[in-house]
Formats: sequence, structure tokens, C-alpha cells
Amino acid sequence: MNQLFSARDVSVRFGGVHAVDNLSLDIVEGSITGLIGPNGSGKTTFFNAITGLCKLAGGRIAIDGQEIGGLQPREIYGFGVTRTFQRSRLCLSLSVFDNIVIGRQNALDLGLIGNLLRRRRFNEAVRENHERVHALLMAFSEPLARRIFDPLHSLSMIDRRRIEVCRALIAEPRLLLLDEPSAGMTPDETREFMDDILNVRKNNPRMSIVIIEHEMDLMQRVAERCVVLNYGRMVADGTFETVVADPWVQEAYLGTS
Ligand SMILES: Nc1ncnc2c1ncn2[C@@H]1O[C@H](COP(=O)(O)OP(=O)(O)OP(=O)(O)O)[C@@H](O)[C@H]1O
Ligand SMILES: [Mg+2]
Repeated sequence: MNQLFSARDVSVRFGGVHAVDNLSLDIVEGSITGLIGPNGSGKTTFFNAITGLCKLAGGRIAIDGQEIGGLQPREIYGFGVTRTFQRSRLCLSLSVFDNIVIGRQNALDLGLIGNLLRRRRFNEAVRENHERVHALLMAFSEPLARRIFDPLHSLSMIDRRRIEVCRALIAEPRLLLLDEPSAGMTPDETREFMDDILNVRKNNPRMSIVIIEHEMDLMQRVAERCVVLNYGRMVADGTFETVVADPWVQEAYLGTS
């Protein structure tokens, strides 16, 4: 498999806090990598560094060998990197459709005047977006696809999380970053969501996924590789089984040494 992503000695600081500390990580195409670590270990900050939401204090980040460290979030999106957020960023009063289509930059990019004057092209763009959103929802479930124009607040927690994933997927990313997608779900919903992630991967075999997760069952089921952070540093990297067998990880993360 080709290498897709490479981080080299990435550091992010907030004042005296080394939130990410000389972190290096390579990711191959078509892989699912789990990222675990105690609260405050720098997982979200690492995603923020990759997506351009926080400044690097040092290091390099590349997609396909092209440097993206220090670029604007919009430019990084252009390299095919999308994400979901730990704290939901959905608009509850908008429809499912609107919440997903927001994820596609330039979805209706004719400009206001263009949209008014070139109605045919505008209508085509709307139809195309509708087809895309519908197809994304169908990949999760038909009942969900039927709710395409329902307001988001009427959806269950698991369906809202699915909408967030759809919003990240509509850009057809090469690298998808999921920040604690199962937060707030019941154990049954979490199990269902694991199958969703595996399905997403089946439908997009070349896309790479990095998933931050506290739910160990989910991690074990979906992640082929598991990377552990502590104080912004990588402290373990391997299969889920080897990583959780590491005495350090048991003590520091699972608290069961
Ligand atoms: N915007 C910020 N300003 C100051 N400090 C921050 C900021 N964001 C994160 N930090 C600090 O950086 C460290 C890493 O935080 P981060 O949110 O990346 O951890 P995390 O591994 O995602 O934790 P959690 O599992 O709780 O989500 C913490 O010490 C946190 O307090
Ligand atoms: Mg976090």
C-alpha cells in the first residue's frame, strides 16, 4: 500500500504546555488507525494541527509527499483531508441535507449573481448535491435517507453522528479524521456505529481513516493499528492486542496493571 500521510516531529504548544510533542506518524492508503490516550494527551490537538486549526511549533506534515503544515484549513481540505469534531458542530435547526452539503466547499459556487442569472446551472448543482447526499445517507440506511429534509434536531444521537460523518465524506476525502465519534451513544448504538465505520471503509477502499476513541470495543473491532499518546508523545504503536498488552499502557491508560 502507498503511504498517504506523514507527520514528522510535529509539535504544538500552548504557552508552557507541550500539547503535541515531537510526534511522528505515517499512514498508508486504505488503513484504519486508532488513536488513544488519556484525557489531555494531545489527540484532538494533533487533529487540529493536521487540519490547520492550530499553529505548528515545529515539524512537518505531508499528504502524498506534499507539505501541508502551516497551510490554511481551506487549502488542507483541498488536499483531501476532512474531519468530524469531538463536540458536534451540526446546526440543529437546519435540515439533514443542509448540514451535509456544508461539507462540500464550492458546492454552489456560482456566486449570488451567478446563481440568479444562471438558474439552469444552479438547479443542476442543487440536483447533483441532492443525489450525492442521498447516496451518502443510503450507505448508512434507507430510513435515514428518507429523512433527508428533516430538521437535524429530530434525529437520534447516532443518526446525528452519521450526519457528521456524511458531512466529512461528501468532500470525498483521502484522509478522514474522526474525533470520538461514539461520544454520547449507548453501547448498542456504539456497536451499530462500528459496523457503519467498517461499511464506510468498504465503500471507500483507498481512503484512510484515523479514529480517536475511548471506547475500547470500538477500537478493537475497527482499528488495524492502534497508536497511543501520552503528554503529546507516542508511547505505543502496534495492533490493538499488542498495544493493550503493553504494561505501560495498562497502567497509564487502562488503569489496570
Ligand atoms: N486552545 C487551547 N489553549 C490552551 N491549551 C489547550 C488548548 N487546546 C488544548 N489545550 C491543552 O493541550 C493539551 C492536549 O489537549 P487535547 O484536547 O488535544 O487532548 P485530548 O487527548 O484530545 O483529550 P480528550 O481525551 O479529553 O479529548 C491539554 O493539556 C489541553 O489542556
Ligand atoms: Mg480530544
